[in-house]
Amino acid sequence: MVAPQIDRLLADIETLATFTEPDTPGWTRRFPSAAYLAGRAWVRQQFAAAGLQASVDAGGNLHGLRPGHRPLPAIFVGSHTDSVLGGGKYDGPLGVLGALEAVRSLAEAGIVLRHPLVVMDYLAEEANDFGVSCVGSRALSAGIQPAWFERQHLGLTLAEALVQHGGSPAAAQQRLLQPGDLHAALELHIEQGPVLESQGVAVAAVTGIVGIRRGMFELSGRADHAGTTPMSLRRDALAAAAEIIVGLEALARNTPGLVGTVGRLLVQPNQSNVVAETVTFVLEIRSLDMQQIAQGWDAVQALLEQACRARGVGHKLLAQTDTAPAIPPPWLAGAVLAACQAVDPRALRLSSGAGHDTGQLSVVAPAAMIFVPSAGGRSHTPAEYTTPEGLLAGVCALAEAILRVDQS
Ligand code: GLV
Ligand code: MN
Ligand code: MN
Repeated sequence: MVAPQIDRLLADIETLATFTEPDTPGWTRRFPSAAYLAGRAWVRQQFAAAGLQASVDAGGNLHGLRPGHRPLPAIFVGSHTDSVLGGGKYDGPLGVLGALEAVRSLAEAGIVLRHPLVVMDYLAEEANDFGVSCVGSRALSAGIQPAWFERQHLGLTLAEALVQHGGSPAAAQQRLLQPGDLHAALELHIEQGPVLESQGVAVAAVTGIVGIRRGMFELSGRADHAGTTPMSLRRDALAAAAEIIVGLEALARNTPGLVGTVGRLLVQPNQSNVVAETVTFVLEIRSLDMQQIAQGWDAVQALLEQACRARGVGHKLLAQTDTAPAIPPPWLAGAVLAACQAVDPRALRLSSGAGHDTGQLSVVAPAAMIFVPSAGGRSHTPAEYTTPEGLLAGVCALAEAILRVDQS
């Protein structure tokens, strides 16, 4: 009988939360940062203390291996320990520390799996100013494009940041996993939305993860005096960006299944009495339907052309990443749903509007997720919270899913 211990998991979550960047809101642990490095060094110690063989791959992913008793492909179980600025304690850490607790409970029950089991702390899942999210899981499934390594942020290139976090840029250019290398990849995560809590259900099996197309754009206008320059002569990059942002909002509101966001904007010279010369922004659209993403992107291009042409503003796409929607194969979806139902017979089937490392892994492996409730549906904020009962239900469902997948 597998019996995960909630006190141990809660203590781990609280300890990891002490590794945060100074002078930032909430529990901030971004890539690259000293806090993230220190937090991962601590996670590595916990892997070793649990008897796992710890190592870091070329993509900077931290592995904690528990060998199986058959020469079979491994099962990966994990998530990420980086956060957004002002993030909470659970988005990511639950999937790593919950997997660790599941593995400890399997060991304590004397269960040895057929497949090797690897607890994973994937590198740098959240979007960052290098313009590449899911750095580690992307390295596993697709490789990191050489041009991306040159991008600068906080005085480091992406290549330097990867080296600092244990990876190897040369090797990470080729995907590190081939189809067939893994038996399956599993991830436990908070829902980050309100459905489970509002229905009073403990766990959900994830039916699909949205695809995301994300671009970093630069609009180039001209800095001019805000009082003396006639409106007809301005080349206002911020006005163009505003038209694009509002146009994106209207597009997504009128397209069921599509969401679109500009959440990051850098304005130069950013002065109240100067027409904006340069605006750099990150625009993303998400959907479970790849065709809808492609059509949405075409509409965004048209918006961009129109808003810039009307103002004599130039535009350039600095960076783009694409993640296809991910749907677990039926055998794995069935095993994970049955594991969730063993914990709560009312277990839901939910899709994920958030991106996850599992979305990347699904390119090369059967991959699936389990959700637990998020209080008030809140996430990407310090207000993120899941009750101890919710956390425990998730770890029990994960342990059960591991057992079922091992036998599949
Ligand atoms: C990750 O949290 C994302 O959905 O962007
Ligand atoms: Mn997140
Ligand atoms: Mn996450």
